[in-house]
Amino acid sequence: MKILFASSELYPLIKTGGLADVAVSLPAALKALQQDIKIMMPGYRDVLASIDGAKPIATLSLLDHTIALLCTSLPRAALEVWLVDHVLFDRPGNPYLAKNGAPWPDNAQRFALFDRAVAAVAMGHANLDWEPDIVHCNDWQSALAPALLASERRRPATVYTIHNLSYQGIFPQATYRELGLPNELWSVEGLEFYGQLSFMKGGLNFADRISTVSPGYAREIQTPEFGCGLEGLLKRRHTVLSGIVNGIDTDMWNPARDAFLIKNYDRENLVDKQANRCALQRAFELPQQNKVALIGMIGRLVEQKGVDLLLNALPELIKLPVQIALLGAGQPEYEQALRGWSQRHPNQLGVRIGYDEVLAHRIEAGADMFLMPSRFEPCGLNQMYSQRYGTVPIVRRTGGLQDTVVDANAENIKAGTATGLIFEEASGPELVAAVRRALSLWEDSTVWPQLMLTGMQQDFSWRHSAQQYLALYRQALADRRLVSV
Ligand code: ADP
Ligand code: GLC
Repeated sequence: MKILFASSELYPLIKTGGLADVAVSLPAALKALQQDIKIMMPGYRDVLASIDGAKPIATLSLLDHTIALLCTSLPRAALEVWLVDHVLFDRPGNPYLAKNGAPWPDNAQRFALFDRAVAAVAMGHANLDWEPDIVHCNDWQSALAPALLASERRRPATVYTIHNLSYQGIFPQATYRELGLPNELWSVEGLEFYGQLSFMKGGLNFADRISTVSPGYAREIQTPEFGCGLEGLLKRRHTVLSGIVNGIDTDMWNPARDAFLIKNYDRENLVDKQANRCALQRAFELPQQNKVALIGMIGRLVEQKGVDLLLNALPELIKLPVQIALLGAGQPEYEQALRGWSQRHPNQLGVRIGYDEVLAHRIEAGADMFLMPSRFEPCGLNQMYSQRYGTVPIVRRTGGLQDTVVDANAENIKAGTATGLIFEEASGPELVAAVRRALSLWEDSTVWPQLMLTGMQQDFSWRHSAQQYLALYRQALADRRLVSV
């Protein structure tokens, strides 16, 4: 199949979260399955500056804008990337936010232009001698493309993946008019969401197939608690909605070969994990102690990730024999509160505010446990990375976390299937109870290594999930045929 994969971020060119990881590793897995795949992304300033010799391959007129399409390739699996070059993307830093942390005021214009470019390429208007069978869009930033394509007669099939339902791309009605979108799309069955424009609804209402990044989240988003107001629509389309759990890049995240680590290790050589532990304590200026458990945490510091639960739990957590090494950036009030705690308890809580890829790998390798107390989590990648690194995850029972971690209850321990600890309620006391439970298992010299090794043996590669996407693409093609007949 010829697949056009549209994403607003792509590792290593630009990344704010897990979408960037998926946007490279899923296409690489599909390519390994002999599929012909091109990735399309906005040509942000920092991206264009970081690559040499991007080749212009087309020019397109889209309403009153002209864009250039530039072609480059990622060393990873020699993937071809098509970048949309336009002055609207010629800005430094974060792809969505200005330096003051607020969204760029013209994000609707920026991503509507990107989506028009995706639709135009999909319809062969760029004269590239390459027309896709499938257009696969991701999150709100590319969600208008399925809507723009829906009315075309001989169009490719469309698939839309929700990575996070809580970011929908909502803009005022006036913006809708400025964007020159077709009048007939302004309805509740179209792009309107309570009198406003919703980019997300373009994907949800018009794609032939909708997926999200875990079966658990696919169920949850059909309920008012997780549906963000879109549960009715999702329930209505449940026959074309499915969940496919993300894989991970098992080359990039491999403790036996990870070049960022102080010392590589594997299942047969677990003692070498210890050198990474010491280095991590040093990096966070924590005392070199063996009798306390070292807990790692990495992520965007936003409500989704349960940062408030951690803050609520900290007064009790610091009474336990634990050290915490936390890396993240996000809401200023969370950053400030965490910094304050670490200043008051420097021997137990190390906090690094910022984005640091190398340190993220070192935390996965050096910690004993990995904490992910998310309030909701469409999939989550770090709990899979940590299992691969023999770092036992402590997670909340939600979304993809419950699909990828097996709780260390008595039954699962006995069966040899347990890989981590799961707690139920989103509350500080439950988080503390889970850490206590982890500590008692950590002291058990039979059970703990078993948890580590079972986690390290899990197959989180893209092999299965990429096959599931292929099946999804075939279903989308069949659905499109039915619609156009
Ligand atoms: P989300 O996409 O919701 O942020 P995921 O768990 O899917 O959550 O993916 C987050 C990705 O971003 C992981 O690869 C994680 O290691 C990385 N990451 C998040 N915050 C940071 C940070 N401050 N420094 C380095 N990597 C980070
Ligand atoms: C989103 C979700 C996260 C998921 C990632 C990649 O950012 O918050 O749970 O793993 O997308 O699909």
